[in-house]
Amino acid sequence: MLQNKNILIGITGGIAAYKVCELIRLFKKNGANVKVTATKNALEFVTKLTLETLSQEPVYLEQFSIEEKKPEHISLCDWADVFVIAPASANTIGKIANGVCDNLLTSLACAFQKQIFIAPAMNTGMYNNFAVQKNIEILENNGIKIIEPETGFLACGTNGKGRLAEVSEIYSVVESYFEKKQFLKNKKVVVTAGGTKENIDPVRYIGNYSSGKMGTAIADAAAIAGAEVVLIKTFDIDRNYKTVDVKSAQDMFEAVKKEFVDSDVLIMVAAVADYRPETVQDLKIKKENNDSFTIKLVKNPDILSEMCKIKKTNQQVIGFCAESNNLIEYAKEKIKRKNCDYIIANDISKKETGFASNYNEVFVIDKHLNMTKIEKDTKENIAMKIMELLYGKNN
Ligand code: C5P
Repeated sequence: MLQNKNILIGITGGIAAYKVCELIRLFKKNGANVKVTATKNALEFVTKLTLETLSQEPVYLEQFSIEEKKPEHISLCDWADVFVIAPASANTIGKIANGVCDNLLTSLACAFQKQIFIAPAMNTGMYNNFAVQKNIEILENNGIKIIEPETGFLACGTNGKGRLAEVSEIYSVVESYFEKKQFLKNKKVVVTAGGTKENIDPVRYIGNYSSGKMGTAIADAAAIAGAEVVLIKTFDIDRNYKTVDVKSAQDMFEAVKKEFVDSDVLIMVAAVADYRPETVQDLKIKKENNDSFTIKLVKNPDILSEMCKIKKTNQQVIGFCAESNNLIEYAKEKIKRKNCDYIIANDISKKETGFASNYNEVFVIDKHLNMTKIEKDTKENIAMKIMELLYGKNN
């Protein structure tokens, strides 16, 4: 279940920090990739060397260092599928509940948009304190999963609630989170992403502004949901599932035909050029010889429509509809004309949710023209919400 899952562990300063060494080992043993961030106080209880040896990664401590051209808290957020904070001190719980970001761990918690797990561990008096209880409630009400501490003998010599949950308990809570998310297990999902490039001559092409971010987010979400994913794309990006590189609409058509045959779902997120130059010049077109020239364009295949014509009853085809006006009207007309199972419509005229943005806001429309709006969110969250809406356990 945890194979290739990226787990970020946050350790705060408490005696239970030593128990988290075992948790790291358990995650690693079961195939997860683990990275660790720790507060300065945590390193009073467990050494950096121990954590680095167990995780086989550097321990992340600095709030203001840059990794892969991004601040560390952002690149770690991108990397991790879940963030597990154990043990979580009263201090760190209070900071996270109130949006304080005064170290790397709390900044990560603030920026993290996927699932956070918090396993508190502290003295009983602290745990029962009104402010700590109120802060825990705030965290729970905002989607953070609290792994409750146990009652028992505490390091401070007292007996009561506050002992870190068993490592095996923390492990199984995280594992069952991933289990529940596996709603596309044993399904093959093909996703197209990016804008196609239609060659004019060896150095020029007709293209569009699609960044491929939404398509990649959809493919990632399908992979997290356990699908066998094939991402057919027009841009460079590394993924740990199958990717196929294409340039033009015709290349994409060939790749889609090949991958669609044994797939369960095709999601056409790519911005496919509707037309291409009828002929591609072998040599670069020289301006010296031409004051003007005309390129005759011919129609590209509509991949989405073609796949809808051949799809079997157990296959689903989903199209995207990016429009700058009359969004819903065009989307409804498109689902009828192309005969696909769903259309996901987004308004590209809005600056903050358009083509290159990290955000989106979409309407999911089914064959019967029922419509569900997914409010503005990051493309990653929108992608997961779409997959959950269409294929999640309740469907
Ligand atoms: O008709 P329109 O281009 O707006 O339709 C958009 C949807 O159709 C997208 O899902 C896009 O990936 C797909 N499409 C296609 N082949 C084309 C043009 C668009 O599959 N030639």
